[in-house]
Amino acid sequence: MNKERSRQPVVVLDMGGQYAHLIVRNIRDCSVFGILLPYDTPASEVEQLKPKGIVLSGGPASVYAENHPSCDVQIFNLNIPILGICYGFQLMVQCLGGKVERARTREYGRTTLYVDDNSTLLSGLEQSETVWMSHGDEVTAIPEGFTIAAHTANSRIAATSNNERHLYGVQFHPEVAHTPRGKVIFNNFLYKICRADPNWTLESFIEEAVQQIRTQVGEDRVICALSGGVDSTVTATLVHRAVGMNLTCIFVDHGLLRKGEAEEVNEILGKRFEVPLIHIDARERFLKKLSTVANPEKKRRVIGREFIKVFEEEAKKLGNVEWLAQGTLYPDVIESARTGSPASRIKTHHNVGGLPTRMHLKLLEPLRLLYKDEARSVGRMLGLPEEIVSRHPFPGPGLAVRIIGRVTPEKLSICREASAIVEEELRNKGLYDSVWQAFAVVGEDRWVGVKGDERATGHIVIIRVVQSVDAMTADWVYMPRDVLEHMGNRITNEVAGVGMVAFAISSKPPSTIEPC
Ligand code: XMP
Repeated sequence: MNKERSRQPVVVLDMGGQYAHLIVRNIRDCSVFGILLPYDTPASEVEQLKPKGIVLSGGPASVYAENHPSCDVQIFNLNIPILGICYGFQLMVQCLGGKVERARTREYGRTTLYVDDNSTLLSGLEQSETVWMSHGDEVTAIPEGFTIAAHTANSRIAATSNNERHLYGVQFHPEVAHTPRGKVIFNNFLYKICRADPNWTLESFIEEAVQQIRTQVGEDRVICALSGGVDSTVTATLVHRAVGMNLTCIFVDHGLLRKGEAEEVNEILGKRFEVPLIHIDARERFLKKLSTVANPEKKRRVIGREFIKVFEEEAKKLGNVEWLAQGTLYPDVIESARTGSPASRIKTHHNVGGLPTRMHLKLLEPLRLLYKDEARSVGRMLGLPEEIVSRHPFPGPGLAVRIIGRVTPEKLSICREASAIVEEELRNKGLYDSVWQAFAVVGEDRWVGVKGDERATGHIVIIRVVQSVDAMTADWVYMPRDVLEHMGNRITNEVAGVGMVAFAISSKPPSTIEPC
């Protein structure tokens, strides 16, 4: 049996709320193994996992709307502790005979919670606490056997409990940072109510993953496509720890990488970790193919096709390879299950798409249970340097999607150098780790400038800095004047061919993060 299965999880049923993953993250932060399942997972399937507890997440629907997401009501009879959050709370109330109605006053944002009963779920909280609310419906009558555990100025019933049946509900969101003492509630639920075991640690994850890879792969040979990014690097390092020389990494340098990235991969993985590494310098080949392409999607397709060709050529030379290791993460696994397709929520990674079936390879995805920051921590534990593990996400087609119009050597150089300055300045100011992505974009347009007495035109460079949780939505990040000033001055002075530096102030939606 899978080791991951022998760890009794706490199951979060995803009611479609933006907070479901955050709930799982909170559970894991309490050292308990949390997993996310679709809201309608049959009770029998949930039971088979032998969960220590179940959480019903929030969601955007109304429990009295037609076709609202609902769980299998049998889960309430499994004698497993359940915590309903926001919509999940209302659903539980409705399923068990209570009442939910449209609220007279919608509660949104920070609210003061008054604790009426702090015996179990809310134990350790003060009599009044700040919590985050976001709801238009409210519970107006609780089911038999429940008691009111807390209220707010606008909600008579903001938390309920049924200690006998181990059923609990909160109208607010304990999983968000705006509920400062939310962790206390999770700890109470997990340890006092579910009696969960604190056995989700990344040290034990590494140990088990290594064992599992060895069992799965045996003496077979594995290949891994390295991209310089966190996920593939951590995957390669983990697989290398498990199978040693039976792993070969193929690193295709398509010439669209960040400044210094190719050298770093060779230096760290190849030399320091002694991972067998084939470095293919395919820069010219890609640039030639791209020289006439301006359409963003076509660019992606050209890069994707060429990548697969190069990778396949090299892999064939190796002969006898059975496995392809890939850095798939948990949100992508969930997304694929939800949509029924392996397409990720982000524009699909071009690298390995289609390769496993084309080359008859079996897939090895050792990070498939991890969130990005857990993968980063695993990387740190495996000894990877901070420059690699804390690097911002980077698109597979690289700088090509940050160059508007055709990719020319001049624009490529401007984009690479200017992006390096943006990243460096953020690091200097200690801001790098607090944003999702930061880079420079270069387009076709030129701005007239003066150099000495001469008029000269140069490209317009746009600085883009965004904050995001999952790349589905993103906000532009306000940058203090001195940070922008340093970036702007350095880009115009140090990068040849730049006539103007601008700052992007559109969020996603309606914009996207990358320009192409
Ligand atoms: P957009 O531009 O769609 O980007 O808002 C969302 C996130 O996905 C990354 N991205 C890509 N990643 N292949 C990738 O592997 C791609 O073709 C691709 N396009 C965008 C982007 O950097 C951002 O984090």
